Amino acid sequence: MQDSPDLELAAHVSRRRTFAIVSHPDAGKTTLTEKLLFFGGAIQIAGAVRARRASRHAVSDWMAMEQERGISVTTSVLSFQYRLPENAEDIPPFEVNLLDTPGHADFGEDTYRVLTAVDAALMVIDGAKGVESRTEKLIEICRLRDTPVVTFVNKFDRECRSPIELLDDVESKLSIKCVPMTWPIGMGKQFRGVYDIVHRQVHLFRYADKHVDDQWPEAGIPVSGPEDPKLDEMLGDQANELRAELELLAGAAPEFDVAAFHSGRQSPLLFGSAMNNFGVRELLETYLRLAPPPQGRSAVTGPAAVTPPAPGDPVPARTVGPDEPGFSGFVFKIQANMDPKHRDRMAFLRICSGRFTRGMRAFHCRLGREVGLGNATTFFAANREIVEEAYAGDIIGLPNHGTIKIGDTFTEGELLRFTGIPSFAPEIFRRVVLKSPLKAKALGKGLEQLAEEGAIQVFKMLLGSDYVVGVVGQLQLEVMKHRLHHEYSVEADYEAVEFTTTRWITPRTEGKSSDDVRKLMDQFQRKNDMNLAVDAHGDLAYLAPNKWNLQKVEERFPDVRFAATREHT
Ligand code: G4P
Repeated sequence: MQDSPDLELAAHVSRRRTFAIVSHPDAGKTTLTEKLLFFGGAIQIAGAVRARRASRHAVSDWMAMEQERGISVTTSVLSFQYRLPENAEDIPPFEVNLLDTPGHADFGEDTYRVLTAVDAALMVIDGAKGVESRTEKLIEICRLRDTPVVTFVNKFDRECRSPIELLDDVESKLSIKCVPMTWPIGMGKQFRGVYDIVHRQVHLFRYADKHVDDQWPEAGIPVSGPEDPKLDEMLGDQANELRAELELLAGAAPEFDVAAFHSGRQSPLLFGSAMNNFGVRELLETYLRLAPPPQGRSAVTGPAAVTPPAPGDPVPARTVGPDEPGFSGFVFKIQANMDPKHRDRMAFLRICSGRFTRGMRAFHCRLGREVGLGNATTFFAANREIVEEAYAGDIIGLPNHGTIKIGDTFTEGELLRFTGIPSFAPEIFRRVVLKSPLKAKALGKGLEQLAEEGAIQVFKMLLGSDYVVGVVGQLQLEVMKHRLHHEYSVEADYEAVEFTTTRWITPRTEGKSSDDVRKLMDQFQRKNDMNLAVDAHGDLAYLAPNKWNLQKVEERFPDVRFAATREHT
């Protein structure tokens, strides 16, 4: 351990930017990802992104893709370097990590959990549609950690809703104040480009040639401000429309406040057209200028990190700073390779502090022992490479032979557990039905392992001991069936159940004796036994048929806590 600050380590951390793109399907996430990678110089990856998109509708395609070892693993994290134009050549570039959030058919709990591993999110909105349901959900998750959000309003080459209306939509649906950094000049057939409010420039729009990948948009044309007559020359009548809108905006939009952005209350917003490479570079550069580097993360320390303390006992916690010398990180995703011959799985670890070096050993807090992290990989460009060095904000892949679970923390010896890596209440439930009763044991094992990967949640009903599985996306059900069959030789089917959501149950213990708590829980269980189950971690869960029912039970048992997320312990 060093006492003096490690300036080199701090410099590495300060140039890391780790983010994910959140959007509703079809808003343009894949297109934008491709363009960002193109600007970041990782062009060869674009093909992989596109290949993934091609598979998005059919389950069978998706599984075939996964079997072609690694495609989804390599596209899970896309890393590239980027130097801002104002930075001299001798200033090292930003190290950008873009985490893929599974969307479309493969949307699942993973999509939610990826957001716990980023330092900012980029929200893409289809300008014709405004904020859509899945975006609302994903932003709800961002709010759990007050993650800063940069907004990109896409598809302005088409008829869209008015820009002012779009700002209102974001503010009313997501409770985030928008601060436009650019403003569109017309839309659809009349789309002339954007006015860069911050740098006082006009970027003129032109359609990109679909068949040419490497088109750089024209540089911005500097103007002295909205009054500049150059605008009339460039834009004709649309110059005055722009002026009127900018005036309206000046009265309505707040000043950009970096603290409000970093706490998720304000969002810098840009307009463009990802398909036409338009506004994408400005988006990337705005994000890099404004978004925070890796921040400190909360963790439980000491024995409480691995053994939940008795109710009422204090839980020692501290914030782990990204430039602390000791290495630490947590696992937020486990990806199976789907190759029945190799049951290897990749655990994705987000580094939170210190320096990771090739060949190092680390302390696996839950298991209480040191393990080698020799074969950790990074994801630079299209290749998986053995990691030489990595820092806070970086994601490394650890080969996992069943000893790593979601939420596991690795350190250089300190007992820690990072908090804020929850399970989320599933939305689709099915009872698992075995075709052969002799396979009950294999089913139990298969379900346990699949639950550990975090793609499905498994509930064992208190009455009848049936297994009920819960997922966030439909595809997980298909994948689970396929994997039970191929990896565990279990033929299983599903039956509908009436549940639509779940809550994790704990008693409110404040001011109660342990006897009172026991009585309370006994009574709660007696009254609700049809709806109670234990999850794969042994925690009690209430499975509710609908919101109304849930509300009623909550009202009836005010001393019971109903949590929509469950922390990994
Ligand atoms: P997603 O990952 O968020 O689901 O969206 P994706 O990028 O796949 O884009 C969804 C559709 O929207 C695609 O059309 C894409 O080409 C189109 N799109 C993306 N950005 C823009 C834009 O700036 N302007 C316009 N007009 N369209 C845009 P598709 O027909 O589904 O696919 P494709 O045949 O074009 O590949």
